[in-house]
Amino acid sequence: MQENFPKHVAVIMDGNGRWATSLGKKRTYGHYIGSLVVDKITKSAAKIGIKYLTLYAFSTENWSRPKSEVRFLMALLKTQLRKKERLFEDNNVKFGVIGNLSAFDSRIVEVINGLIKKTANNNGMKLNLALNYGGKYEIVQAVKKVCEDAKNKYLNIDNIDEKIFERYLYTHDMPDVDLLIRTGGEKRISNFLLWQSSYAEFVFFDKHWPEFTEDDLVAAIDEFKQRKRRFGGL
Ligand code: IPE
Ligand code: IPE
Ligand code: MG
Repeated sequence: MQENFPKHVAVIMDGNGRWATSLGKKRTYGHYIGSLVVDKITKSAAKIGIKYLTLYAFSTENWSRPKSEVRFLMALLKTQLRKKERLFEDNNVKFGVIGNLSAFDSRIVEVINGLIKKTANNNGMKLNLALNYGGKYEIVQAVKKVCEDAKNKYLNIDNIDEKIFERYLYTHDMPDVDLLIRTGGEKRISNFLLWQSSYAEFVFFDKHWPEFTEDDLVAAIDEFKQRKRRFGGL
């Protein structure tokens, strides 16, 4: 694998609602089409050789949307997850979730746990779905667990460093984000992978998520390859 190929690609899949509205359709139509793009891009990313793909599907702030939209998103999540087994098997994808699952319906959690178990031995790409994910929440939870372990003497406070702290994040078993893609025209991070994106390269697309294609993913990777990462050095 080339040195300058991104190992971990994260995507803020934004613009579903605006895309649908621009076509005179309901926002929920955009979410549905967007969910089909998730499958397409999962397949493409696995084929291209990306090792870790993290997709932002629902943030800790998205609960503040109208109840009807949240309800639709939860139902969509359930039906889409139920159909994923084949996709993951065919593409050797190992599935995982980052986020606080305690807020979800137990039937959704059941499907998620089933997929994690069934794909545990796949050794191609790791796909992480960010569900009820918030970067600030993740860090605060990690701090709480660190404190707990320090209190119980599993951890010596003097030894806490970045490496040790990272073990308490959802992403403890993966590298930091190399390439962060956001569709939908906004240029912000929206509470996504705050810690893990500290030296990520950002590539923004004006087009909305339902219009995102494999060619766009390849274009983002090509752009990444042109970037000169310095990590604070010279
Ligand atoms: C992203 O699309 C999907 C979720 C946040 C669930 P949006 O729903 O944010 O679409 P826009 O940004 O309003 O167009
Ligand atoms: C970020 O999109 C969250 C997801 C894509 C799941 P939002 O649409 O929620 O972000 P803001 O509100 O524009 O910052
Ligand atoms: Mg949005």
